[in-house]
Amino acid sequence: MSDMSGNRNRTLKNPSVFISKPIPEVIVSLLKEHGFEVKVNNTSHKLSKSALIDACQQADYLLNVGMSALDKEFLQACKHLKGIALCSVGFDHIDLETASQYNIPVSNTPDVLSKATADTAFLLLLSVSRKSYFRSREIERGEWKNFEYMHQLGRDIQGDTLGIFGLGRIGFEMAKMARAAYGMRIIYHNRSRNPEAEDKLEAEYVSFEELLKRSDVISVHTNLTPDTQYRFDKVAFSKMKKNAIFINTARGKIHNETDLTKALIDKEIWGAGLDVTDPEPMLPDNPLLQMSNVCVLPHIGSATLETRTAMAEMAVRNLIAVSKNEQMPQIINKEFYSKSGAL
Ligand code: DGY
Repeated sequence: MSDMSGNRNRTLKNPSVFISKPIPEVIVSLLKEHGFEVKVNNTSHKLSKSALIDACQQADYLLNVGMSALDKEFLQACKHLKGIALCSVGFDHIDLETASQYNIPVSNTPDVLSKATADTAFLLLLSVSRKSYFRSREIERGEWKNFEYMHQLGRDIQGDTLGIFGLGRIGFEMAKMARAAYGMRIIYHNRSRNPEAEDKLEAEYVSFEELLKRSDVISVHTNLTPDTQYRFDKVAFSKMKKNAIFINTARGKIHNETDLTKALIDKEIWGAGLDVTDPEPMLPDNPLLQMSNVCVLPHIGSATLETRTAMAEMAVRNLIAVSKNEQMPQIINKEFYSKSGAL
């Protein structure tokens, strides 16, 4: 229903919401307490696009968990939706312009996952520098026969220069830990300067070229956009230090996986830690999985119970707000959306 200014009235008596993957029961209850009828996809597999479209036909709202593409085709088929809450900070999987055209407000889940995601980047850094996953697999293969003094040595990271590509909230937490734990010097490259990081962490803003040349460790924390897609390609890897460790906990498409694999084989860089791959899931026969100086995790950046609960609650609070005709606190398409004269 629209009022005279074109706004849609989102206040329904019994609004219904479809949740695309299981979330904590306590958060489902919160929705129910606020009068929502809730339907959850309780299967562990990802719904196909047509199954997601079908499920949304009966729903007023979507709580989207995971990376299913909410593209033009999906949004055209689901233009009746009155709000979409993403259970992720990243929003590269939704076509915000089309959502805005249909007056669908969209929210994400910033801040609550920053520490957990930075922990994963830090975990990868240590795992790679000490080759811990590879060494652990040696035990499984029965290859731990002896104390070998010079076998598969790692490398120290004390006093290294950490280059952050995309120093926002997650990058800040990673830089803070690296500086506190290992006295790392922080350099960064962003679209805009980060005064807080410069003030609190003595972070130095550098060009992308300088980031590549000066960093002993590069950690990627930027959004995936046309500008950042495949930013780390063979040219970039060739400019990095031979002892460099490349960490990516943001999106797999920010590096070119073929170029990364070659850079590791050719020893253009020292090692890599990935929580994100391209495509996801990574296939089990991927050569990166056999390398001693590589650690790959299955996109677990925010995967703690506390963080996933906080993300789900934030997503739900956004739906509750929009169902009361209030603006979503974490709206991400406000700019487009306000142009259409809606909430
Ligand atoms: C995010 O929140 O964007 C994480 O990558 C999980 O999807």
